[in-house]
Amino acid sequence: MAVEVDSDPSRIDFEVVHGFLASSYWAAGIPRETLRRAIDGSLAFGLYEDGAQIGFARVVSDFATFAYLADVFVLEAHRGRGHSRRLMDAVMAHPHLQGLRRWLLVTRDAHGVYAPHGFTALASPHLVMERHRADVYRAEGPAAASAPETATESEGEER
Ligand SMILES: CC(C)(COP(=O)(O)OP(=O)(O)OC[C@H]1O[C@@H](n2cnc3c(N)ncnc32)[C@H](O)[C@@H]1OP(=O)(O)O)[C@@H](O)C(=O)NCCC(=O)NCCS
Repeated sequence: MAVEVDSDPSRIDFEVVHGFLASSYWAAGIPRETLRRAIDGSLAFGLYEDGAQIGFARVVSDFATFAYLADVFVLEAHRGRGHSRRLMDAVMAHPHLQGLRRWLLVTRDAHGVYAPHGFTALASPHLVMERHRADVYRAEGPAAASAPETATESEGEER
């Protein structure tokens, strides 16, 4: 089966991406319009098997000094086959993302996916600050009602 990673935004299968993220522990209930704007404002990567999207990642960056990696997933039926490795290799090799001084990401348990690319725990956590509204998607709009019960407030803290 042909597996490829592509950063062409026109290929993104929005239904697949929203379908996964709206039920994820970190973006539960994300409104469609919010996700559309997030993708439009990011360098988005799709992972495709025989042309069908099976994974996703996006990078928010100034393309000169800093990048934030977000919303990485491989659909459940396709996990454990090295697909996230392929996806991360493509992200880190992208020509617009070279020579950056700092990358950041937040993960609950997938540290092993990122460690081979040099990601570590914060060396100096006391230097880093955040402003985080974990419940923002549930506080706004009708999507709030469709947030899955499995996504608890504390799980939502992750991103
Ligand atoms: C995390 C996720 C992207 C991994 O995708 P995958 O295609 O199954 O991963 P791969 O098969 O490419 O595994 C690559 C490596 O990462 C490791 N790995 C995979 N999932 C891991 C996890 N959850 N925690 C730690 N390491 C993990 C694998 O052991 C493998 O290492 P190895 O080659 O040394 O054996 C996938 O499980 C997923 O989408 N999970 C749900 C969403 C999620 O948690 N995304 C990450 C948010 S930060």
